[in-house]
Amino acid sequence: MNKLKAWFTILATVFVLMAVVVGYTAWYKLFRVVPQPEFASPEERFKYGSLGGEDSSGLPYWIVIVLPRMFPEYLPGPGGYASLGIPWEQGRDLPVGFSVKTVGFDRVTNTCAVCHTASYRGGEDEPAKLVVGGPGHGTNVQAFFDFLTKCANDPRFNSDNILAEIATVYKLSWLDKLIYRFGIIPIVKKRIIEQGNNFAWMHRDGMPEWSAGRDDPMNLTKYFMLELPEDGTFGPADMPSIWNLDKYTKNMSLNWDGATTVARSVIIDSALGLGASPKAPFLDIVSWLRDYLGKLPPPKYPWPIDVKLAGQGRTLFEAQCASCHAGSRTGTPVPIEEVGTDRERLASWNKDAAIAANKKVKSMGVDRDPMVEETLIGYVAVHLDGVWLRAPYLHNGSVPTLHDLLEPQDKRPQVFFRGYDVYDQAKVGFVTQGEKAERIGRRFDVTRRGNGNKGHEYGVGLKPAEKTALLEYLKTL
Ligand code: HEC
Ligand code: HEC
Repeated sequence: MNKLKAWFTILATVFVLMAVVVGYTAWYKLFRVVPQPEFASPEERFKYGSLGGEDSSGLPYWIVIVLPRMFPEYLPGPGGYASLGIPWEQGRDLPVGFSVKTVGFDRVTNTCAVCHTASYRGGEDEPAKLVVGGPGHGTNVQAFFDFLTKCANDPRFNSDNILAEIATVYKLSWLDKLIYRFGIIPIVKKRIIEQGNNFAWMHRDGMPEWSAGRDDPMNLTKYFMLELPEDGTFGPADMPSIWNLDKYTKNMSLNWDGATTVARSVIIDSALGLGASPKAPFLDIVSWLRDYLGKLPPPKYPWPIDVKLAGQGRTLFEAQCASCHAGSRTGTPVPIEEVGTDRERLASWNKDAAIAANKKVKSMGVDRDPMVEETLIGYVAVHLDGVWLRAPYLHNGSVPTLHDLLEPQDKRPQVFFRGYDVYDQAKVGFVTQGEKAERIGRRFDVTRRGNGNKGHEYGVGLKPAEKTALLEYLKTL
C-alpha cells in the first residue's frame, strides 16, 4: 500500500514539475515583457519607443523582416519597405516609426513617428535630413496595409516558406521554430487577413488612393475603432506637423476640422488607434508624448534668407494673413463657405461619430477631454510654425508649394507627384515634377475626389514682387 502511495506521490510531483516547466516556458516564450533598452535621446524614444501595442497589433519581428524578400511584388517599388516612403536611418534594420520590443518574442509595432517624421534634402546628392514631429509627407500608409494583406492572403505565406526564409538570415532554436510553425505564423496570417477584410472600404470605387503623406483619418476612426457602418464619405488628409503643441492655448482646436480642442486627447486617440493597450503605463506614455511634443521646436529654414525682403513680406503678411494665422482667428475653424477648400474631409466626420468616440474611449477606462460633440463648420486657420517644411499645402495636400498657394486656383498645378523629398527653395515646397519626382512620388490629380485644390485664394492678387517678399517672410516662421 505504502509503496503505491510513494509511487503516486512521485508521479504527482513529476507531473506538477512538468506543468511548471511547460507553463514557465510558455510564459517565457510568449508573454515575458522585456523593457526596451534606454533610449539615447527623447528623439530616439519618439522614433522607436513602444506605445504598448504589442498584444493587439504587434507583428513578429522575423516575419516583418522576411516579408519584403518573399513578396517584393506587393510593394509599390524596389527597395523593400523603403518603397513605402517612410524615412529610414542608416544602420537600422527597420524604418523610422517601427518599434521592436520583446513580449515573449520580438514584436514590431508602429509609433507616431511613422507618420510624423519629415525628411528633406537640399539636392539630389545630399543625404536626407530627418525632422521628428514634421509631416511624414512620403509615408504611404495605404500601401503598407495593402502589402501586409496581400502577403497574408498569398498561399506562399505559410510556415514552411517563412521558416525557410528566416533561416537564411537567422538561426532560430528548435523550440522557437516549433512555436513559429504551429503558433505564431498561422495566427499572424489569420489576424492580418481579418484586418484586411476590415479595411476593404479603402478600395471603394471612385475614390483615389490616399497617396504619400495622407490617410483617411476620420474614416479609420469610424470603421476601424468605432466599427460604424460604411457611410460613403472619403476624407483624405495630410499628415500635419505635431511639433510645438504648447501653441494650442485654450479655445483653440486641433485636427484639420477642429474635431478636438485638447492636444492630450488627440495623442490618446492616436495611440489607441495604433493599438496601444489602455492599461498602465499608457497614461504615462501619453504624458511623456504631450510634454515632449509640447516643447519640440519647429525647425528653422536651413538655407539663407534675405532679411530685408522678408521684412517687406512681413508687412504684407500682417495685412493679408495675420488675422487668421497670427491673430484672433488662429486655431479656430473658418466656415467652409469662407475658406472655400475641398469639403470631403469635413464631411467625413460628424457629431454622432464624435459621441461614439467619446463613449468608446471612456469604456476603455481612459479619462480624457471629449471630442467636440457638435456639427463642425469648416477648417481650422492653422498656426504656420515651420510651414516651409509642411508641403504640400492645405488639409488635403492639394497645392504643392507656397508659391502655388499664392496663385489663383486655375493657375495651381493640376497633376503633380507627392512624396519626393528634394526641396525647391524657389517655390518653397518639395520638387513635384520631373523624372525623379515621378519615379519616387505618387501621381496626384486634383480633379479626383477629395483632392480638390480650390479655395484659400488669399494673397493671390499681390504683385509678383510682393509675392516673392511674402514667400521670403513665410520661410522665417
Ligand atoms: C497613420 C498615420 C498617423 C499616425 C501613426 C499618427 N498620426 Fe497623428 N495625425 C495623422 C493625420 C493624417 C492627422 C490629421 C488628422 C485630421 O485630418 O484632422 C493627424 C493629426 C494629429 C494631431 C493634430 C495636429 C494638429 O495640429 O491639429 C496630433 C497632435 C497628432 N496627430 C499626434 C499623433 C501622435 C502623438 C501619434 C502617436 C501616438 C500619432 N499622431 C500617430 C496621421 C497619423
Ligand atoms: C480668413 C482666414 C484666412 C486668411 C485671411 C488666410 N488664411 Fe491661410 N488658412 C486658413 C484656413 C482656414 C486654412 C486651412 C484650409 C484647409 O486646409 O483647407 C489655411 C491654410 C493655410 C496654409 C496651409 C498650411 C498647411 O499646413 O498646409 C498656408 C500655408 C496658409 N494658410 C497661408 C496663408 C497666407 C500666406 C495667407 C495670406 C496671404 C493666408 N493664409 C490667409 C485661413 C486663412
